[in-house]
Amino acid sequence: MAKIVDEFEAAERAAIIRLENKIVTDSPLYRSGATDPREIPPWFKELSRDPPVQVLVGDDPRLPGMPSKPSLIDYFTYRFGPSQHLLQSARLAVKNGCSEKIVLACLLHDISVFGLLVPDHGYWGAQLIAPYVDEEVSWAVRYHQALRFFPDPEVGYEYPQSYIDWFGSDYRVDDYIRRDYEVARNHKWYMSARHITINDFYAFDPDIVVPLDDFVDLIGRHFRQPEEGLGLDSSPAAHMWRTIMRPTKFL
Ligand SMILES: [Fe+2]
Ligand SMILES: [Fe+2]
Repeated sequence: MAKIVDEFEAAERAAIIRLENKIVTDSPLYRSGATDPREIPPWFKELSRDPPVQVLVGDDPRLPGMPSKPSLIDYFTYRFGPSQHLLQSARLAVKNGCSEKIVLACLLHDISVFGLLVPDHGYWGAQLIAPYVDEEVSWAVRYHQALRFFPDPEVGYEYPQSYIDWFGSDYRVDDYIRRDYEVARNHKWYMSARHITINDFYAFDPDIVVPLDDFVDLIGRHFRQPEEGLGLDSSPAAHMWRTIMRPTKFL
């Protein structure tokens, strides 16, 4: 029995990632589902070793380095996943004659999906950008998530076929999504969020490659870049950007 326990422990310890002789820690959300989040992670047990072990507390050497004062463009370049969906949405918004504010909302509407978290992405995305954009832009990003589930034939928005494919035809949204849809429907900025859904729906086109360069000027005009660097400022969302920058930083 002791041998099995020893072997199990050895396997657990071998699974711990070490970089530059430092242990790399991960967050409960990264593990949750793949493992039971109530379990103590193997690296946690290492913290009480004698002699003490060191942990990674700064940049993760596996990730591309970021400038000392990063901008939104730098996050697109060095951290976000392929963001053609965002760029194509913004391009379509331009084609459809939307205002610059709405184009920016379309450019950033799924920013959480590509850079932070997928569940409730509209809400997370809105929080990420709120300190840096016009209130209407972050409001629209927040509510586009609920509006995507509700057609509006008057403006030509139908329930997405992709949602039927992905969720099944019998899928019913959670109560909070329905509630937030009602809030958005009766709000003065309803059409701002609705425009995101209109430009979102047709935005998957594998034949078009839209360069981020097309929107650098627009970002410059409408996204307030903090002097210290995005994430190194003291806004209420700065820590979220820092976590994207250094996702394995211990504490
Ligand atoms: Fe979305
Ligand atoms: Fe989208």
